[in-house]
Amino acid sequence: MNELYILFWVVWGIAILLIMAYSAVLLFGAPYFPSLSPHVKAGLDLLDLKKGQTVYDLGCGDGRFLKAAAKRGLNAVGYELNPFMFAYAWFTTRKYRKQVKVCYGNFWHADLSRADAIFIFLLTKYMERFDELVETRAPKGVKVASHAFKIPGRKIIAKDYGVFLYKY
Ligand SMILES: C[S@@+](CC[C@H](N)C(=O)[O-])C[C@H]1O[C@@H](n2cnc3c(N)ncnc32)[C@H](O)[C@@H]1O
Repeated sequence: MNELYILFWVVWGIAILLIMAYSAVLLFGAPYFPSLSPHVKAGLDLLDLKKGQTVYDLGCGDGRFLKAAAKRGLNAVGYELNPFMFAYAWFTTRKYRKQVKVCYGNFWHADLSRADAIFIFLLTKYMERFDELVETRAPKGVKVASHAFKIPGRKIIAKDYGVFLYKY
């Protein structure tokens, strides 16, 4: 009986932590919803980076984009605010530790000064703020691939599989 009581509260505790982690992110950006492999491929193809260049995934989720970028010989930096997704991304990219850095934190405060390119999958309501972030924090000439959502007032250079390419 005692064990059952403890198990009940452990399960509830984990459930509450998960709900808090996934819903708290909604205050800062898009919730977790992964890009599928055709979107990841389209993003990387559109960005067309050379080996050794650096791409950021702002809100890197499970780290799939970072891993795909590393497989192409790129350096990749991901920011993730959900502690569970951060841990998952950090763990699943461990094989590429020399190329992939996963940062736990809010990407609105990220240092983007070393970015050659940025991949994002946000929501319409954050795109204007994102535009300002790139404009003020990323180097001139940085390429941006945005999955699903357009950047208001910016010219789309190319698009593929619902991913839009921009150059600043
Ligand atoms: C729509 S998912 C995209 C995941 C991944 N980029 C992909 O394309 O598969 C958005 C991710 O951004 C994270 N996120 C949202 N706002 C954030 C913020 N301000 N800082 C860091 N991560 C954030 C969420 O936790 C979620 O994992």
